[in-house]
Amino acid sequence: MKTILITGAGTGLGKELALAYAKRGDRIILVGRTKESLNDVKDLIKRTKGSSLVASCDISDGQAVKKLIERLVSIEKIDMLINNAGIGYFGNLQDLSIEEISQMIDTNIKGTIFMTKEVLPIFLEHQSGKIMNIISTAGLRGKVRETAYVASKFAVRGFTESLIKELEHTSIKVSAVYMGGMNTPFWEGSDFIKDPSRLKSVKQVAKEIVEREDEEQMIIS
Ligand SMILES: NC(=O)c1ccc[n+]([C@@H]2O[C@H](COP(=O)([O-])OP(=O)(O)OC[C@H]3O[C@@H](n4cnc5c(N)ncnc54)[C@H](OP(=O)(O)O)[C@@H]3O)[C@@H](O)[C@H]2O)c1
Repeated sequence: MKTILITGAGTGLGKELALAYAKRGDRIILVGRTKESLNDVKDLIKRTKGSSLVASCDISDGQAVKKLIERLVSIEKIDMLINNAGIGYFGNLQDLSIEEISQMIDTNIKGTIFMTKEVLPIFLEHQSGKIMNIISTAGLRGKVRETAYVASKFAVRGFTESLIKELEHTSIKVSAVYMGGMNTPFWEGSDFIKDPSRLKSVKQVAKEIVEREDEEQMIIS
């Protein structure tokens, strides 16, 4: 049994990863801003071999992340961190608002870095642990009308590749996952994707991630 902290665990890929790991009997720390959706996932996990704990937190707030991990470390032994929470706003650059750009940078980049920075000392102390960063094919190549989102995902890729090098002489494993479009609430309120139901099944993607968990660079085509 492993204890896995998943950010953005209330919906979409984070929720499906939580359920997939819980089915294996793992304990999941469900992190996100909306308690209701995290509690719904907690209820679903009760029907599996696994267990869970809800911890609401805005990962873009560095002090809140620090406090969360300080609190968790006294009650849980975290074995794995999955940096999954992320948001996207799409359209021509001149049409994106400052707020939308800031939110992507703050959540996708800073959120991932803050969470990792706080969990890393625990992993170093135990000389074990895994960090998995959910990126996107937007972290592999530039895309039209995705400028700021792609920039945020390239940043997470750079962060991940650098961390792999920084930790290569330790027992801590760091990995990156690059996938294309999935049918999740990510697309709600956006007309960027005409029919999200035609995108990949998020359950299927979660299953593949769990199966290929040990790959340092996982590209899901
Ligand atoms: N859907 C796709 O087509 C696709 C493709 C490639 C990669 N991805 C990536 O996959 C990851 C998961 O996305 P998804 O498709 O599953 O979308 P989603 O259903 O919208 O999930 C994103 C989750 O992140 C949480 N979140 C957002 N901001 C947060 C914050 N500041 N602090 C804590 N939690 C926050 C949200 O919950 P709260 O709002 O309650 O906080 C939500 O549960 C993202 O990194 C996304 O960029 C998605």
